[in-house]
Amino acid sequence: MRFPDGFVWGAATAAYQIEGAARDDGRGPSIWDTFSRTPGKVAAGHTGDVACDHYHRYPEDVALMASLGLRAYRFSVSWPRVQPDGSGPANPRGLDFYDRLVDALLAAGIDPLVTLYHWDLPQSLEDNGGWPARDTAHRFADYATAVYRRLGDRVRGWTTLNEPWCAAYLGYGSGVHAPGRQDAAAAFRSVHHLLLAHGLAATALRAGGAGSVAITLNPAAVLPADPASEADAHAVRVVDGLHNRVFLDPLLAGGYPPDVLSHIARFTDLSHVQEGDEKTIGAAIDMLGVNYYSPTYVAGRPGAPGGGAYPGTEDIHFPPPSGPVTGMGWQIEPSALTTLLVRLHTDYPDTPLMITENGAAFDDTGPDHDRISYLDGHLRAVHAAISRGADVRGYLVWSLLDNFEWHDGYAKRFGIIHVDYETQRRTPKHSAMWYRDVIASGSLPA
Ligand code: FCB
Repeated sequence: MRFPDGFVWGAATAAYQIEGAARDDGRGPSIWDTFSRTPGKVAAGHTGDVACDHYHRYPEDVALMASLGLRAYRFSVSWPRVQPDGSGPANPRGLDFYDRLVDALLAAGIDPLVTLYHWDLPQSLEDNGGWPARDTAHRFADYATAVYRRLGDRVRGWTTLNEPWCAAYLGYGSGVHAPGRQDAAAAFRSVHHLLLAHGLAATALRAGGAGSVAITLNPAAVLPADPASEADAHAVRVVDGLHNRVFLDPLLAGGYPPDVLSHIARFTDLSHVQEGDEKTIGAAIDMLGVNYYSPTYVAGRPGAPGGGAYPGTEDIHFPPPSGPVTGMGWQIEPSALTTLLVRLHTDYPDTPLMITENGAAFDDTGPDHDRISYLDGHLRAVHAAISRGADVRGYLVWSLLDNFEWHDGYAKRFGIIHVDYETQRRTPKHSAMWYRDVIASGSLPA
């Protein structure tokens, strides 16, 4: 089972999850610093203050990547390192870190893939309104420009945002992510301003000559609990709208889907969507990043008492997983990834895809065969999608290292490399060795 020539093999991380050094070299506080220090928000009171100490240990981490034969490494830049309070002149010492990292990667023959926003909004910008405020989108474009000026001579692959769905719906709707607000209107305003931020930054990066401009979404593979139920089919349409089409259509199909706008009209009058915004959001991209972990099963339950996992899903039930799950309790179903990739390719043709995250947390009490089988199954699913015509250019494992898993803190381990948080010792797991062999052969056993 051979992957196409030039298929990109790599791994991914994010700044707040691995860097630590939360106060070094002029870094300002982000919403995740505030959130993780707020009692009851993150498991066991964990914070990203030290994390994997990657800020100081990046040479060792790059050496580990090289030893596995990674061709690409996706990392994110911490906005509050670059602009401690989210605006104004760039902090050179913050940018120096990424400068050193990029040089180390290039020296090791690893392609640096930069994500500009993986959820660590400078706290000052949240204090000024956060993503529900339009100005934040403009601040993001300035920040993107500052990073591009420093790294654009060496970095080809630029991704604006990681999973704006999480930033908006979990950050401002359900409140399980920073900044922890629970306000449906704020969540939908955030969706728009995140997309606008992407469009403004994509335009600026393109004008500066960026090689490749992308955004990473976590598109849901939405499936009906009961394939014969009409109510469930309706639930699929609603969740596909709120989770997928509200992002994909303005990015890739010219504007917001009318059914989604009318669905959310009970939460917001949409006055924050201004003339010309959809055109800005639709700025051409070179790649769509896809993060996939688990399918989303839904059932309709019209008239049932409210609740809803996130705003707009009040009439929808998300049944608990059936079948095997990961250590997160997430259902393992690789075939849903094939379906999702083929659907993206069919509905949004001409945009190459890249799996920018896929992986699993497990308890890792011995050799991590369960992670190997998860990765193997999902790589086969990617291969199947390619055979059916989907233009998938690469695969990045989440994650290179065990790290700070947001509201689960350090309790959940996604790494192919184990991190002992007491000593910061790194130990490649069996899955890392397995992945090294897959990369070396560019194929899986048939
Ligand atoms: C994704 C995030 C990533 C990681 C994985 C498990 O939603 O982008 O940072 O936490 O989930």
